[in-house]
Amino acid sequence: MRPLVATVDLAALRHNYQLAKQCAPGRKAFAVVKANAYGHGAPETVQCLSDLADGFAVASLEEAEQVRAVNADVRLLLLEGCFEPAEYRAAAELSLDVAIQGEAQVDALLNAQIERPLNVWLKLDSGMHRLGFTAAALRVSHARLSGAAEIAELNLMSHFACADERGHPLNESQLEQFNSLLDLSFAHRSFANSAAVLTLSAAHMDWLRPGIMLYGASPFAELTAVTLGLKPVMTLTAAIIAIREVPVGESVGYGAGWVAQRLSRIATVSCGYADGYPRTAPPGTSVLIGGQRAPLAGRVSMDMLTVDITDLPQAELGDTVELWGVGVPIDELAQACGTIGYELLTKVTQRVPRRYING
Ligand SMILES: Cc1ncc(COP(=O)(O)O)c(C=O)c1O
Repeated sequence: MRPLVATVDLAALRHNYQLAKQCAPGRKAFAVVKANAYGHGAPETVQCLSDLADGFAVASLEEAEQVRAVNADVRLLLLEGCFEPAEYRAAAELSLDVAIQGEAQVDALLNAQIERPLNVWLKLDSGMHRLGFTAAALRVSHARLSGAAEIAELNLMSHFACADERGHPLNESQLEQFNSLLDLSFAHRSFANSAAVLTLSAAHMDWLRPGIMLYGASPFAELTAVTLGLKPVMTLTAAIIAIREVPVGESVGYGAGWVAQRLSRIATVSCGYADGYPRTAPPGTSVLIGGQRAPLAGRVSMDMLTVDITDLPQAELGDTVELWGVGVPIDELAQACGTIGYELLTKVTQRVPRRYING
């Protein structure tokens, strides 16, 4: 078997959900498990959090079906609502909460022949300008939906564009927009993603929507997960499958861009970009072997990467190599590659087996 595994620490996941709740005592929290629970496996994540989580949130009906298969009763929010009118019937059958982000969705819902009324979350475009009603349009839709037979609860939600940048002026203006609608009657209100859960208490409202923090990565460029009290959930490990000596002046890997400046010991490791390790990782990026850091040498290939282990004389064939996780924070790797932990986690491909521990 190819030595590559994404180990998912379920105790860390539970810790992180509880931490989100502790940030906002008395509030409820949808655990955001879209995109296969940010790459961690949605069924296993839902199973693990089922006795703790007040609800879950997903991006599509297909994802909602996956969650429902594991948990028949939990509150489950469709973050972008239904994409086609026919989906409202299925949403009602699955007892989903649905976001409503535009007039077309209001029309479709009011025309849907649904068996039971739905909990609706009217989405305000408070300044991100991606999805949602303007404040004025939201008032109109609120009036249209109030008292309609298709509606159980009428709720309000919005999403931050810059909550990961503390003090960004848009945060304050988005909050003002949101608060300007609170003269309307809503059963519940929801605004806070992970960054707002952690640092913007004015946005906590009734229901939090933490995603990335559940998985132990930081939403902030300048605050580490450890500083925030988060525990890494996924650790990606491979193994050394070959070792060779490379003489001075010889190159390693595609493009021959990395050239040995000294007689070098090069380890070839069983993980590549087709597994989700970023091809953009520059030479010098750290991996962990036997608790010690070693730098990438040469470009990341599809199934393998190469590491300079000249300074790790004890490293040998078969040694475990951590690409990210407990020893190499995913945020550190993401920053080195000009991306974010979200992208790395969601891009771990299907061929990487997930192993669940501490369940
Ligand atoms: C509408 C909505 N709410 C909450 C989240 C969770 O955000 P985060 O992972 O930053 O906590 C997302 C994720 O992108 C989202 O789209």
